[in-house]
Amino acid sequence: MESFGASIQFDRRLASYDIQGSIAHAQMLAHCGILSKSDSEKMVKGLKEILASIGKGEFVWSGRLEDVHTHIESALREKIGDIADRLHTARSRNDQVVLDLRMYLKDEISKIVSLIQQFQKAFLTLASNNDDLIIPGFTHLQRAQPVLLAHHLLAYVEMLQRDGERLQDALRRLDALPLGACALAGTSFKIDRSFVAKKLGFSRILENSMDAVSDRDFVIEVASALAILGVHLSRLSEEMILWSSFDFGWIELPDAFTTGSSAMPQKKNPDVFELIRGKSGRLIGNLSRLLVMLKGLPLAYNRDLQEDKEAIFDSIDTVKASLSILIYLLPLIQFRPEALKEEEDFSSALDMAEYLVKKGVPFRQAHAVVGEAVSYCLDQNKTLKDLILIEVQKFSKYFESDFKNCLGWNASVNSKVSQGSTNPKLVKKEIEKWERRIQNTEDRRQNK
Ligand code: ARG
Repeated sequence: MESFGASIQFDRRLASYDIQGSIAHAQMLAHCGILSKSDSEKMVKGLKEILASIGKGEFVWSGRLEDVHTHIESALREKIGDIADRLHTARSRNDQVVLDLRMYLKDEISKIVSLIQQFQKAFLTLASNNDDLIIPGFTHLQRAQPVLLAHHLLAYVEMLQRDGERLQDALRRLDALPLGACALAGTSFKIDRSFVAKKLGFSRILENSMDAVSDRDFVIEVASALAILGVHLSRLSEEMILWSSFDFGWIELPDAFTTGSSAMPQKKNPDVFELIRGKSGRLIGNLSRLLVMLKGLPLAYNRDLQEDKEAIFDSIDTVKASLSILIYLLPLIQFRPEALKEEEDFSSALDMAEYLVKKGVPFRQAHAVVGEAVSYCLDQNKTLKDLILIEVQKFSKYFESDFKNCLGWNASVNSKVSQGSTNPKLVKKEIEKWERRIQNTEDRRQNK
């Protein structure tokens, strides 16, 4: 039972938060006259020493004791004797463990948000380095309309922005102190929860003691934001894997981030992207682990809740590792312009229809006319650019001598004028906007 119930193998990563929480709790107990000043000071001193010894890697984790909370308390008893037995007054491991987890998540979210921002910068670097490249844009993985590569990359900057915002939104909600809920009902001691909240940097306290010890929605929200982020990273990875394949040949991945095959000498495999795509499964799995863990639990604390930690720790570690490697890898990707030379792929067909609409043809009719022109080209083994005026006038009398101006990749991207479109001037402005936006948040963080 002891080894089955133990969580020390994984919850030791909460040690520094557990100690900070205990320090604030001991100070509050003295502040409220529940503990003598000298006992509280001895506890604080002892706890700080334990924190230092953990920091130096000197602390011995015995494995005999169940969890991080019992470890720290027992280490304190070894240091200061029986006085340590008073620390757990007006507290329970039930509110203590939620406190630790909330403090841990606050720190980790800030770290991930800053990694997200560095990753956005990596996208901007890649976009500016290749700002004149046009690629075929796809729907159904069939060539659809030409777009600027930079426009495609900026789509990920948008997704990542929302990922960061989702995490910050979860952070705002989880930034509330559970301590003082005790086992589930509160306590008969006149404690000062706001004192502890202030010491630990929480912006408010949780109002209902049973809610405080029994819910884990805050963990689920973070896991969910990370799962969505993982899905975005997976979609990116899928594209990079396709683009680096022989059949696309659009990009060259740096050797340091690829592997060869043990059997086939010609292989250069995009392992990093494959792993990130694969790891999105963990992030989705961890989210469902947490949802299933919580769904059948009657209030208040149940030991099932111990299962929250490995899931969320794994999601945090996975996302940090994936972002960290992508931040290095992304700017090193080389595009191969020779593989992105314009081909007649009929991707100007919609531009041709819009040309007719501008001459007064209703859109549906214009669509049908261009459809006929494309079939004709396929039959005759011609491209749209090969057609001459009398040929296209067989399909519509609205074609004039200027009709070829709308054809081709360059003409297509340059013709776009709507907000949020792939027009090169607009895309350039977007890159500049993101650069300023990210610079501003970095400046704000540094001034903090
Ligand atoms: N290790 C436990 C957890 O992670 C800490 C709380 C234990 N509380 C209890 N009543 N057994 O949830």
